[in-house]
Amino acid sequence: MRSHNCGEVRVDHQGERVSLCGWVHRRRDHGGVIFLDLRDRTGLIQIVFNPDRADSFAVADACRNEFVVQVAGLVSSRPNGTDNPDMPTGAVEVLAYDINLLNKSATPPFQLDEHQSVGEDIRLKYRYIDLRRPEIAQKLVLRSKIATFIRNFLDSHGFVDIETPILTRATPEGARDYLVPSRNHEGHFFALPQSPQLFKQLLMVAGMDRYYQIAKCFRDEDLRADRQPEFTQIDIETSFMDENRIMELTEQMVVELFQQQLKVNLGQFPRMSYAQAMEQYGSDKPDLRIPLQLVSVEDLMQQVEFKVFSGPAKDPHGRVAALKVPGGSNLTRKQIDDYTKFVGTYGSRGLAYIKINDLSDMENGLQSPIVKFLPLNVRQQLVERLQAKEGDLIFFGADKVKVVNEALGALRCKLGQDLNLITCDWAPVWVIDFPMFETTSDGNITATHHPFTAPRCSIDELTTQPLQALSRAYDMVINGAELGGGSIRIHDSEMQARVFALLAIEKQEQQEKFGFLLDALKYGCPPHGGLAFGLDRLVMLMTHANSIREVIAFPKTQSATCAMIQAPGVVANSQLQELNIRLHTKATG
Ligand code: AMO
Ligand code: AMP
Repeated sequence: MRSHNCGEVRVDHQGERVSLCGWVHRRRDHGGVIFLDLRDRTGLIQIVFNPDRADSFAVADACRNEFVVQVAGLVSSRPNGTDNPDMPTGAVEVLAYDINLLNKSATPPFQLDEHQSVGEDIRLKYRYIDLRRPEIAQKLVLRSKIATFIRNFLDSHGFVDIETPILTRATPEGARDYLVPSRNHEGHFFALPQSPQLFKQLLMVAGMDRYYQIAKCFRDEDLRADRQPEFTQIDIETSFMDENRIMELTEQMVVELFQQQLKVNLGQFPRMSYAQAMEQYGSDKPDLRIPLQLVSVEDLMQQVEFKVFSGPAKDPHGRVAALKVPGGSNLTRKQIDDYTKFVGTYGSRGLAYIKINDLSDMENGLQSPIVKFLPLNVRQQLVERLQAKEGDLIFFGADKVKVVNEALGALRCKLGQDLNLITCDWAPVWVIDFPMFETTSDGNITATHHPFTAPRCSIDELTTQPLQALSRAYDMVINGAELGGGSIRIHDSEMQARVFALLAIEKQEQQEKFGFLLDALKYGCPPHGGLAFGLDRLVMLMTHANSIREVIAFPKTQSATCAMIQAPGVVANSQLQELNIRLHTKATG
């Protein structure tokens, strides 16, 4: 039905007869001449209808937005002065000699060029219309190209694409499971996979050696701008490769992907320990495009009279850190108040600051609500440690380590954006040497990555000092986003059982939940490891999307529903009976 796509017609096609199909984006009547902007996935082109072709003129005149038409015409360069440099097709137009109305459209719930003024709920309800916007369609096209690149790369490195079950049992990745009731086994439930973790490890036991899968994962967790309940992983597992080799190979994959699709050279990724990342950036996914760093000052603050500082400085679980903002002394009172509110959302009870007005005068040259509490020698050491210059501002956080890291870590990124401090377009980094375990707020220990991750130390060291143990895990972080994470796995059943025990999973529960894994590890399990990238996050990053929903064709809303097909929905009683499920009806009134 067509010779070209709308968005691809150029001056080179001048004089050619073309046939185009698409949707009427806009219809304009300019004193006897009708202009239709015709749109398809690739973009827009202007079509001109003159009244001397009465039949097609009449059809064009009757067209409304979103009507579907086929147009035949002659490509012509636009008359002088009417070029539109904002449109890729803006130098040409098509002089129509025929139009065929393929389908009408009811008045759409929103105009495509006014999508920003309608709520996202409406756009997601009519997602099939929202997806007609070329800029969003192009994100899906890039997503497809990325997936194809990844498949080709991994295929050419000997990886085998293997599907793993969707109806499975819970895998502990730290979120709640989506459960599916079993009709045949009353009171029993499948869980949708949070990741293919255990199956991919079993594929290594099976000798498959190099596995990958572009796999759907399901996690019932609180949603954020970069999280969906249903998302896609590029899931990878290998045997007989250590962490260096796995990092090298997957780094090469991402470098070649950026090179091919964006013409960007990411260079070699630096590696940073978890401890350094937390110390200098307050985050295990540091955005290294921003040059600001946290600096610890506990040693200087232990003896000061200001309890807000001396308390956390003496507390082994406390932290006092400073963040220097070059040139920041021109921040207004209002800006500082707003930043104080901002860190408050991370649990911080305040945001002390010092403005450096005169470096030669430690007595009166520092402007701050707290400087009166700091002896002159502390002031001097502080400006030296931070290498502060006149005109700089220093912010302080003092609290439990977690609060200071989260608050100043987030403030650092916000200042980077607000004050335009970003030094480069792309800053990748591998974060390594994670601790094996973390303590939760209720005092229990949990696995930092997941319970199948191998420690760096022996089984005895792990048992005696679990919280000191480092793991063989690694995360790939780009521009402050955790793109992927993985680890070398435990391939010894005794070590695996010990890790379960440290996580307070008793023998019986180990057998019930993971007996198959503990068994499999006894039957000749090779050393193995892997990693999984979030495909949605990768596409988000590469398309500069603000939300993960922009790069998924049919995403869930912020409250984990599908607004278009109204899922989840109620089901008939008969279906519930078949599944042996009875609902507690909520008391009303
Ligand atoms: P992890 O839980 O770190 O590891 O997940 C790997 C990557 O998946 C992406 N991701 C998400 N993307 C969108 N929405 C979500 N809710 C979501 N949760 C995770 C992130 C993350 O880096 N089995 C291990 C991998 C392994 O050890 O090989 C795992 O799932 O980009
Ligand atoms: P206050 O003594 O509460 O009036 O606080 C004096 C200064 O210290 C104010 O600028 C507060 O914002 C700041 N401040 C208070 N608590 C903290 C904290 N936990 N960390 C950093 N600064 C704080």
